[in-house]
Amino acid sequence: MALLIRNADIVTADSRYRGDVYAEDETITRIGRNLEAPPGAEVIDATGKLLFPGFIDPHVHIYLPFMATFAKDTHETGSIAALIGGTTTYIEMCCPSRLDDALEGYQLWKSKAQGSSACDYTFHMSVTKFGDQTEGQLREIVADGIASFKIFLAYKNFFGVDDGEMYQTLQLAKKLGVIVTAHCENAELVGRLQQSLLAQGKTGPEWHEPSRPQAVEAEGTNRFATFLGITGAAGYVVHLSCKDALEAAMAAKSRGIRIWVESVLPHLLLDKTYAERAGVEGMKHVMSPPLRERDNQKVLWNALAMGSIDTIGTDHCPFDTSQKLLGNDAFTQIPNGIPGIEERVSLLYTYGVKRGTLDLHRFVDAASTRAARLFGLLPRKGTIAVGSDADLVVFDPEYRGKISAATQHTNCDYSGFEGMEVEGRPSLVTVRGKVQVRDGKFVGERGRGRLLKRDPAYF
Ligand code: URP
Ligand code: ZN
Ligand code: ZN
Repeated sequence: MALLIRNADIVTADSRYRGDVYAEDETITRIGRNLEAPPGAEVIDATGKLLFPGFIDPHVHIYLPFMATFAKDTHETGSIAALIGGTTTYIEMCCPSRLDDALEGYQLWKSKAQGSSACDYTFHMSVTKFGDQTEGQLREIVADGIASFKIFLAYKNFFGVDDGEMYQTLQLAKKLGVIVTAHCENAELVGRLQQSLLAQGKTGPEWHEPSRPQAVEAEGTNRFATFLGITGAAGYVVHLSCKDALEAAMAAKSRGIRIWVESVLPHLLLDKTYAERAGVEGMKHVMSPPLRERDNQKVLWNALAMGSIDTIGTDHCPFDTSQKLLGNDAFTQIPNGIPGIEERVSLLYTYGVKRGTLDLHRFVDAASTRAARLFGLLPRKGTIAVGSDADLVVFDPEYRGKISAATQHTNCDYSGFEGMEVEGRPSLVTVRGKVQVRDGKFVGERGRGRLLKRDPAYF
């Protein structure tokens, strides 16, 4: 299978030039001008389009048993939505609960993706308890090609670890050279605040944010950073939502702690008034950390532009309207999460690049290259270079459209971004040289995705 993309405006995290890209057997083999393709090759004219490396979503939930229900996507629906949105690789949180066996959980998560995902994938392995068998099991999982762990400081008694378990996880990660991603909210404070609010009859979704104020996230971020400093491990804060937590992470960075930061689209574009809408409309916008006061957005965009926020993910986690209504009587029972895997690239391009906040190269870096570097995928993924996988996004900057649940591919009956305008979208998307999306539609091979083996070499 050969593929030639001609006359492209090729954009990577650090360069922009006009040229042709040729791929054979899944890999980019030539980049130049006026390249010729053999008979039978797929030839695409990209005149007037941008050509980006396939985008990487570093934080998604596809299979997720959580809050008395399951996230709605399968790898089939989630990966098609991802590809239509220009994401050619995602990193799923593998999340067995504290009651589950980690190794069995890992096998289960793998079995859900294998033969089902149309894009490439890997996992952050969640450590939700640290018992006698944990070290041996994690060593086995790392040997299988998983180069990142995940811990939750929130969700006590389900996914959450205590400080001792965090310490043990970070110590092991340091030994193995594995980076640890972390959901940073203080579980004890969240629990106390939730009980106090419910006792006052404050049961609606508008009370979700007051139960997890900025200070709760800043404390979690600071504590995680302190533990990183003491153990010498490398860490990555997921879905950082606000100014106070960002200050905690930046203060740690300036002390020399190896900490990186991810934010997600909802916190850049939506604010807490969305969760204050009446009834289920508010519930649709309940996630953790919660949507914040609007003034945090400017801080996050600026930090992203400077590179202090390293990556933009989605924390894609779709629960439909009927699932959200599980929390009708108490905001604490609303399944936390919002879909977004399909909209990430177009929204970031529109509200970052087109609005003049985000340089085009930082856009590619934040949505692809830096995740590839942090999670052991570069140079196979995250760039356009000879030897890299031919994961390519032909992006039409002239496209104009609106986000709508009626046209989305994720398995959810609403979009948290309903009605938002987008300027530009992926028109053609390839995974290892095969066209998976053409004219914005999935035309490819279901189940083509592969589990990516990674080396914990970077740290
Ligand atoms: O609300 C969220 N974020 N749901 C998904 C689970 C998590 O915390 O990432
Ligand atoms: Zn989380
Ligand atoms: Zn998540």
